[in-house]
Amino acid sequence: MPMRILVINGPNLNMLGRREREHYGADTLESIEQALIEKGKALGCELVFFQSNHEGGIIDFIQEEATGADGILINPGALTHYGYSLHDALVDSGLPVVEVHLSDIQAREKWRRISVIADVAIRQITGLKAQSYLLGLEALINHIRGREGK
Ligand code: DQA
Repeated sequence: MPMRILVINGPNLNMLGRREREHYGADTLESIEQALIEKGKALGCELVFFQSNHEGGIIDFIQEEATGADGILINPGALTHYGYSLHDALVDSGLPVVEVHLSDIQAREKWRRISVIADVAIRQITGLKAQSYLLGLEALINHIRGREGK
């Protein structure tokens, strides 16, 4: 069975390409997902994409999909900074999580420096625009392969 990775994007990330390009780059979510599909193929894994502007929608998705998945790649958007119920859903999933951000959250407003998701994540990759996702996927897969010998 190929490895199955959930790729989750939080609030406002459906607007990529049109929002604050100086922070997030010109890529759309669709183009990032396309690049991830290519990378996933090369690495031998299947990706399941989900984006929502609603914390509860993301939690429902994690609860429904965690069984049968091997890991989670997530950009929680602004939920990064206050999404405690998302944090708890990620813990409950029991899956390895990699947190990614397009912008460098340490180099922006003070309130963005805190991630309430970081302690659930095996890695946090920030500031590399779309490349954060590609490196994040690689790190997640390497972690799973190393752990399970997959
Ligand atoms: C973001 C950073 C968050 O602070 C912000 O709210 C986003 C995007 C990033 O990818 O850089 O929506 O997660």
